[in-house]
Amino acid sequence: MTQLDTHTTSETYIPVCEPVLGAQEKRYVLDCLEGNWISSLGKYIPKFERMFSSYCGASRGVACSSGTSALHLALDAIGIGPGDEVIIPAFSLIVSANVVCWTGATPVLADVTADTWCIDPARIEEKITPKTKAIMVVHMYGHPADMGPIMAIAERHNLKVIEDCAQAHGAAYSGKRVGSIGHVGAFSFYGNKIITTGEGGMLITDDDAIAERAAYLRNQAFEQERFVHRAVGYNYRMTNLQAAIGVAQCERIDTIVERKIEIAHRYIELLADIDDIDLPTCRPDAQNVYWMFGVLVRPTFSHTAALVRERLAKRGVETRAFFVPLNRQPAYNGVDKKYPNLQGRFPVAEDLSIRGLYLPSALNLTTEKQEYVVDQLRAARD
Ligand SMILES: Cc1ncc(COP(=O)(O)O)c(C=O)c1O
Repeated sequence: MTQLDTHTTSETYIPVCEPVLGAQEKRYVLDCLEGNWISSLGKYIPKFERMFSSYCGASRGVACSSGTSALHLALDAIGIGPGDEVIIPAFSLIVSANVVCWTGATPVLADVTADTWCIDPARIEEKITPKTKAIMVVHMYGHPADMGPIMAIAERHNLKVIEDCAQAHGAAYSGKRVGSIGHVGAFSFYGNKIITTGEGGMLITDDDAIAERAAYLRNQAFEQERFVHRAVGYNYRMTNLQAAIGVAQCERIDTIVERKIEIAHRYIELLADIDDIDLPTCRPDAQNVYWMFGVLVRPTFSHTAALVRERLAKRGVETRAFFVPLNRQPAYNGVDKKYPNLQGRFPVAEDLSIRGLYLPSALNLTTEKQEYVVDQLRAARD
């Protein structure tokens, strides 16, 4: 995560992201070690579930091992299975398609909007068939998907809505925090996420039945009668050590989210005079939390996004390319018959993928470093 993927000749090194942990995280982890509560029982797990779900505005939280497992549990807990279809954005991490396939259902791609980079409500309805059971939105790079029309479509067609909030802790739509707008929300706490537990995730919901089912499946579907299992579950448990870090992070989540927004606002200011770079949006009904500060390089900029990334890397600035769209993933090209062929034309997703890159966005990014990044971006043009 903190290694430049291109050779650098610069003495400066600014990682694209890195976790920032404090004294409280250390204190709580030590408390786990000293009390010997290091596995998936212990007081920090329910505490983290309560704190984080209530921060998001949901009544239940089910902590688990990753954002991926949170999504998989969410689909399984709402009953998605073989023969079903789930509509997902074409522009996303491959995880979005994988978790649907693991349930035996089929992912169906819809293109995204050019401003939010999230699933386009106008492209959803045309994808609905009698087999469609759910829509899984991804709040991309911190900007919420257009949840108003999406929830209206879901209601009209009796579909469930799963929010992938891996990149959007604290983001809001019409005053409601993401994760609490659809039927179920899934978060990641990987080391580069807005709050982190190292690895980890959480499913949140207001639906007790979904929460109970997810908690049951998370723990191998263990029941009172030990070693008799009435369902096929998983080991998707979070450890008390991870939850201890999560509790400490939750205690200062407002400051962390504010800091992300502050970094983005400074980038917007510093980049204002660079032509031919498109900046991220924040729609009037949305709170973008700018997990990572993504920009789009226009064809009129003298170099492609890939070359700009290379030039920045040589000057010690680490960046990341945008996702390769799901319709371009070799894993889903139809050769492996176990998985569907997701090839097709999704012009917005493809354009974002070619033109996008994100700039260093760690919480500890100083103003000086940000100015350096922008100066190098300016210089990368020549
Ligand atoms: C949009 C999205 N969904 C899901 C995940 C999966 O989260 P995790 O890495 O915790 O499994 C990620 C991870 O970066 C992500 O970006």
